[in-house]
Amino acid sequence: MGCASWVLLALLCGAAGAAAPLRCNVSLDSPAEQRWLPVLRHFEPAFLRAAVQRIIDESVPKWVHQVIQPIAAELEVFMPQPFAGEIAGMCQALGISLGDGILLNFAYESTAFCTSIVAQDDKGNIYHGRNLDYDFVDILSKITLDVQFTKGGQVAYQGTTFLGYVGLWTGQSPHKFTVSGDERDGGRWWENAIAAFLNRNYPVSWLVRHTLSEAEDFQSAVLRLAGIPIIAEVYYIVGGVSPKEGMVITRNRRGPADLWPLDPLGGAWFRVETNYDHWTTPPPFDDRRTAAIKALNATGQHNINFDTLFKVLSVKPVLNNNTVYTTVMSAALPDRYQTWMRTAE
Ligand SMILES: *[C@@H]1O[C@H](CO)[C@@H](O)[C@H](O)[C@H]1NC(C)=O
Ligand SMILES: *[C@@H]1O[C@H](CO)[C@@H](O)[C@H](O)[C@H]1NC(C)=O
Ligand SMILES: *[C@@H]1O[C@H](CO)[C@@H](O)[C@H](O)[C@H]1NC(C)=O
Repeated sequence: MGCASWVLLALLCGAAGAAAPLRCNVSLDSPAEQRWLPVLRHFEPAFLRAAVQRIIDESVPKWVHQVIQPIAAELEVFMPQPFAGEIAGMCQALGISLGDGILLNFAYESTAFCTSIVAQDDKGNIYHGRNLDYDFVDILSKITLDVQFTKGGQVAYQGTTFLGYVGLWTGQSPHKFTVSGDERDGGRWWENAIAAFLNRNYPVSWLVRHTLSEAEDFQSAVLRLAGIPIIAEVYYIVGGVSPKEGMVITRNRRGPADLWPLDPLGGAWFRVETNYDHWTTPPPFDDRRTAAIKALNATGQHNINFDTLFKVLSVKPVLNNNTVYTTVMSAALPDRYQTWMRTAE
């Protein structure tokens, strides 16, 4: 248990270039309320309280804040475990209200822009990479974590997240599959989210973590990510361990709007998803998709690997001023899971 705190020091001291985030273990064998406490000890509570306030003030509509605050305690009843216990435990340790802890976990859902790529090389290896773009880059880069969730001394699954945020937008189940999520509905999701939540739909990042915890393989992960009701629209990008195991799932709240698999025999050895339906043309003011496709074409299937995928994710505007981190991963080689902070560049 515990974190490599020198990494955090390096971050806080403004280490130049791409740095790795804080790496930590969170034990699933500990009670949900307690399992994040060793991680919290690496941070200054006053800094975390201020960060939570700023993110909520700037990203949660005032009316939502006012509606949620008084009913937060009741909302907890609707939250599945381990999410409810983990949020409650962190709120108590930091001295922030449960309502704010819940809002924080919803707030991130509203403005996560991203680029995700799944690709197959000419030997059949699957690679998966993502950029997470977000407002508040300055704060988020200081609380980004690579977390290994352990059970019985083994890594059950891992992911990249922000401290206090118990869902995952990026993660890996070793030797099984990798997942990333990109926002779909352009920030209008608040309109029906609370009602959906009360109807026991999952927040989108909770379904990612739930799937990493439960799914046995790529197929089972795709079925869950495509079918389980969620509170907002999203794109889920999934990579497996065998040839052709790559998929972009376009989600409605109730179920799949579209499934877009790799088709390496047909020449489609990669799929790129940003924040627009793949069958539409991205707006000219935000065409990260074409830039990524050009870079992948120039790389070629023969040359795609962890390093070249990272380079594709470093081409502007795929990499931009809101990019918090880049992760590259391949479920067949779980030890190569790697996240880089991009804000010092
Ligand atoms: C995390 O847990 C794994 C598996 O038990 C262990 O090998 C590793 O050393 C731990 N890392 C840290 C930073 O504690
Ligand atoms: C990428 O390559 C494919 C196949 O050669 C081609 O159809 C497509 O137009 C290229 N896209 C870009 C953006 O270069
Ligand atoms: C990103 O930041 C740099 C340096 O501050 C600035 O020169 C550039 O115009 C910014 N790019 C965008 C797309 O805002």
